[in-house]
Amino acid sequence: MEIPKHVAIIMDGNGRWAKERNLTRLAGHNEGIKTVKKVIEAAIKNKIPYLTLYAFSSENWNRPKEEVNGLMSLLNNFLEKELQLLIENKIQLKTIGRIQELPKATYQRIEDAKEKTAGFNQLTLTIALNYSSQNEIVDAVKDIVKDAKENTLSIEELDYPKLATYLDTKDLPDPDLIIRTSGEYRLSNFLLLQSAYAEIYTSPIYWPDFNQSHFTKAINQFTQRERRFGNIS
Ligand code: FPP
Repeated sequence: MEIPKHVAIIMDGNGRWAKERNLTRLAGHNEGIKTVKKVIEAAIKNKIPYLTLYAFSSENWNRPKEEVNGLMSLLNNFLEKELQLLIENKIQLKTIGRIQELPKATYQRIEDAKEKTAGFNQLTLTIALNYSSQNEIVDAVKDIVKDAKENTLSIEELDYPKLATYLDTKDLPDPDLIIRTSGEYRLSNFLLLQSAYAEIYTSPIYWPDFNQSHFTKAINQFTQRERRFGNIS
């Protein structure tokens, strides 16, 4: 099979990586940023057009305040330091999730980076921030009801492709491959509808230790799989 067009990653295990080294959880996330950069490079090398990273779920607000604030400032730093890298590599930045609920400075930095990279297409890098698949579906249903009431949408004609235009992922193809690191086997409220036919690959490696060869191994394994989409071979 061909290489996946859209790879989405649940970057898990930063906390456990740090704990094993007697470091703070934030030190684990900081190390995780290095992996983010490596994986972006690997995606480009493997000619993958869409990469989506689950950086902050809507449930992550429940973590200690120190960790939440730390994650927000890591994200700020990433956008500040790496914007030039995104531009040089013609990477378009997108987000999914309720980013309007993020701290104002972070929100503005994201919007600025999205604007400055809007025309690029070597890689579309989507970061899931304050993302929850269930919330995304609720938001879509609200918009659908509104459009139906205003007669700009015919409910009789509503099907999945139409519904998908109301999701945050409306400009992205559905993911072909979902990678989760750290040996967990869950989707954790990530792209639940969109991954209906995604292949799932789990790696036992903690995210900070995940490298380009682990990524390439996942891609190679994907190419060996047979996808039937409910049909027979
Ligand atoms: C899961 O590990 C990881 C997160 C909740 C945060 C991931 C964020 C980053 C890698 C940095 C920000 C990303 C970008 C794109 C700038 P965990 O803390 O749940 O690990 P654990 O299960 O071992 O505790």
